[in-house]
Amino acid sequence: MNGGAMKPVRVGLIGLGVVGCQVARILTEEAEALQARTGIPLRLEKVAVRDLGKERDFTPEGAILTTEPFDVVNSAEVDIVVELIGGEDPAFDLAIGAARKRKGFVTANKLLLALRGAEVFSAFEKSGARLGFEAAVAGAIPIIRSIRESFSGDQVELIQGIVNGTGNYILSRMTDEGSRFEDVLKDAQALGYAEADPTLDVEGIDSAHKITILAALAFETVVDFSDVYTEGITRITPEDVISAGELGYRIKLLGIARRIEDAISLRVHPAMLPQRCLMANVNGPFNAVETRSKRAGVSTLVGRGAGGGPTATAVLSDIVSMARDIASGGGARMAPLGSPVGGMEKLPVIPMDELESEYYLRFTVPDRPGVLAQIAGALGDNGISIASMIQRERMENQPVSVVLMTHNAVEADMKRSLTHIESSGICLAPTMIIRIAENDRD
Ligand code: NAP
Ligand code: HSE
Repeated sequence: MNGGAMKPVRVGLIGLGVVGCQVARILTEEAEALQARTGIPLRLEKVAVRDLGKERDFTPEGAILTTEPFDVVNSAEVDIVVELIGGEDPAFDLAIGAARKRKGFVTANKLLLALRGAEVFSAFEKSGARLGFEAAVAGAIPIIRSIRESFSGDQVELIQGIVNGTGNYILSRMTDEGSRFEDVLKDAQALGYAEADPTLDVEGIDSAHKITILAALAFETVVDFSDVYTEGITRITPEDVISAGELGYRIKLLGIARRIEDAISLRVHPAMLPQRCLMANVNGPFNAVETRSKRAGVSTLVGRGAGGGPTATAVLSDIVSMARDIASGGGARMAPLGSPVGGMEKLPVIPMDELESEYYLRFTVPDRPGVLAQIAGALGDNGISIASMIQRERMENQPVSVVLMTHNAVEADMKRSLTHIESSGICLAPTMIIRIAENDRD
């Protein structure tokens, strides 16, 4: 380096919440170490929040605070904009504004990229500005870089995993402590794992956002978020968790994106995993993403998937990488998704009705003669074979739970059977259905 003082790379941060505070803290307190890694000083220049008077975990000194996020994007004093507010508006306009001004843009906003990804990615491709979104999927796990760069010489055929920390934290505590769903959700919110609207976490929508991004990246295709079949964990009861354990499984919320020849299958739903498999033992706020590719086979990355610290690590990885690029004078830029979105075709999505799986079914029915025969008959009439059955001890005048495990069946046949069983009037509560994960069969 020459003797003159180096011009710093100036960062503008929008959002100083769970993740933003940690990013601001690292940029401020670890500035020297970051300079050593990037070869260039990084300076937190401007920060936008909604409420200037709010008490925070960390408030950076020296940076200019504003309530106007567009001031950060438009400021001539900012080189890299970091968006950590979440949601579609105004995040979309902030991203497009940064692309037009040819500024680096770093975001953890999976909702934005799942719903408006094609527009955002193409705006950055056209302007040649840098877009970093490592923090948008699976927290500290470097899955975006891994698929875009490490697997760029291979063909990814399947990505599946636990990609929502809140959901995994809730299911883990329900399993290990017998805790109630509602109580554990409150803890997940207090720990900063949940989205501002936790429905996104527990209804599987956040996982579907992440699967949309991962599928587009891995299969180089345009993916519509609405094509992801999505089911959450709100209907899982302690009884399901106990029954799963008795049958040798653990329940996890899985996101699955699979390429089958020239089509793709996209889904998010609770699944039962054999207790001995790796992913069944990934608990708490941890995520796991399994990738299967043509030549490399199976690889699994495990790490913290939610929370301020882990997510800030991923945000910093993008900031550091952009700062290094700037320090080295640029170099060739890869399209944000690896390949340009403009040239991508949209692969057809295989309907959920065509899925084949083994199933866990829990019926709530009266304990009287003929009920089991009706259930077994409806399943049998649709070609579904029962593998095992548990009926819990009955308490007088109380409905009983009948738990069935089936052999492999087609989703459309399963739906038809359940419609038939429920319309017969024997079910005293909606039937619980959980698919068995495909881990052992592939
Ligand atoms: P958060 O705690 O709710 O913080 C949001 C921040 O954005 C707050 O500081 C808020 O200001 C600010 N904000 C909101 N609207 C604004 C506006 N119009 N102008 C200026 N500031 C605005 O959210 P978070 O948990 O840090 O999440 C931020 C992003 O990271 C989201 O996209 C989320 O999905 C993603 N993410 C979060 C996690 C996690 O574990 N929390 C993990 C991965 C990704 P005030 O503080 O003044 O209200
Ligand atoms: N709410 C998200 C989760 C944050 O629980 O996984 C990380 O994306």
